[in-house]
Amino acid sequence: MAKIIDEVSRTFSEYLLIPQLTLSKHTSSNVSLKTPLAKFSRNQPSRFYLNTPFVSASMQSVSGSEMAIALARQGGCAFIFCSQSIKDQAAMVSRVKYHKAGFVPSDSNLRPDNTLAEAVALRKKTGHSTMPVTHDGTKEGLFLGILTDKDFWEYEDDLNAPVSSFMTSKDQVVFGTLGISLHDANSLLQKHKKECLPILDEEGHLRALVFKKDYFDHMNNPDELLDTRKRLSTGAGINTHDYSDRIPALVDAGTDVLCFDSSDGYTEFQKNAAQWARKKYGESLVIGGGNVIDGNAFRYLVEEADVDFVKVGIGGGSICITREQKGIGRGQASALMAVVAERDRYFSETGIYVPVCSDGGLANDTQIIIALAMGADFVMMGRYFAMTAESPTPKVSIGGRVYKPYWGEGSNRARNWQRYQTADQGSGLKFEEGIDAYVPIVGSVKEVLGVTTSKLKSTMCNMGSLTLREFAENTVLTRISEQSFVEGGTSNVLSLDKDLPREI
Ligand code: IMP
Repeated sequence: MAKIIDEVSRTFSEYLLIPQLTLSKHTSSNVSLKTPLAKFSRNQPSRFYLNTPFVSASMQSVSGSEMAIALARQGGCAFIFCSQSIKDQAAMVSRVKYHKAGFVPSDSNLRPDNTLAEAVALRKKTGHSTMPVTHDGTKEGLFLGILTDKDFWEYEDDLNAPVSSFMTSKDQVVFGTLGISLHDANSLLQKHKKECLPILDEEGHLRALVFKKDYFDHMNNPDELLDTRKRLSTGAGINTHDYSDRIPALVDAGTDVLCFDSSDGYTEFQKNAAQWARKKYGESLVIGGGNVIDGNAFRYLVEEADVDFVKVGIGGGSICITREQKGIGRGQASALMAVVAERDRYFSETGIYVPVCSDGGLANDTQIIIALAMGADFVMMGRYFAMTAESPTPKVSIGGRVYKPYWGEGSNRARNWQRYQTADQGSGLKFEEGIDAYVPIVGSVKEVLGVTTSKLKSTMCNMGSLTLREFAENTVLTRISEQSFVEGGTSNVLSLDKDLPREI
């Protein structure tokens, strides 16, 4: 006979936190959001930490290279989507790793005989106004000079004239030689008051560019998540089908952490794939498993698949229809608390701590805060990041507001066969588990995370905590009734935003 779990499935919005004693040391500036991502033994460091507890979902409409760069700059980590060819995914990873090296490959190059009109068209296409001129117009051609928008007047000069007559030629360009350190390259930029430093090899071929603005970005983002070579860190999604080809390609490209992208991770497929990866790469590989929603599945992935972290959540995602389509899932708060309880039990039994990630269904900052208070070591979000400037989708104007498309990996649009493929489903998609939608644009990753982290830090102070560990340990939650929920909104007042007409 079917077994029924006594407790009802609950969501984050059914809980509130009861403040604990706040001491004078509990100020936002003293709070650390650093959190482990890879399992570790008691009193040992983890092999991988996040500086802020946020990762972006492995989804086509969320995590490309631009997201990975922006999120790593804020101390989090993107999981670049795997519903694409191995080659394309590895190229996205390489782009992130190359970016932070400070030595950026030049993507807007001209030949000396190109016209100014062609230079303008190139600038519009790439958005970059610094355009090296090489003998053959390639990024590693013989360097002849550089053209920037300071060198000509688009509406005054003859746009049919060749680039060679307007560029700053090589003999007047300050450049660095291949092998120069980033520190020395930045010193040259400072000394010569330049915005961009071309790096040339001994034969004079262009090899990279170093920009002053990248140095400032670095100084403005003290939480940046960097690898041991000071490159930005990035994650990548993997599946249980082509892992023996995909994982080596991603590791070669420099991926720091991998994670299975699966709606149900309690499977022998995941165990086999994870074991294969562990055997090949040992502890140098950081690999996450999931998704799961109960303690048994957590144990299986930890003990049998030997994963470094476990992702929790089935059916809670904003674009997800898995619960309706297949009848599997659990309220995200209940799922998280069940897995967290098992994680803590496992830790006290074995001395091994396996971080837990709450994935999907976080509809606002409060829910992010509650998930972390309930013991998630970090959270994965799709919609939240899809709404930022750095998600890989184009802006669309609907009814006077600007939106971005956001679709599930199990939707027809994503055509991510492998993720939802089961042995008897074959290779075609017979039903969808996700929808195709739009979300409003809210700002850059830095802006939105800035607001979320200040709310989180402030709440942690209310709870007498300076670290996420203390936060989870100090947490006292209360379940709320529907009436308390109503009471939590504004009441018996006319709201300037909602009720009263504003003067324009
Ligand atoms: P969100 O943050 O609520 O938008 O949820 C994002 C999460 O939904 C992802 O990290 C995945 O775990 C999950 N997800 C992504 N695509 C689908 C889908 O098509 N169906 C069901 N779940 C999905």
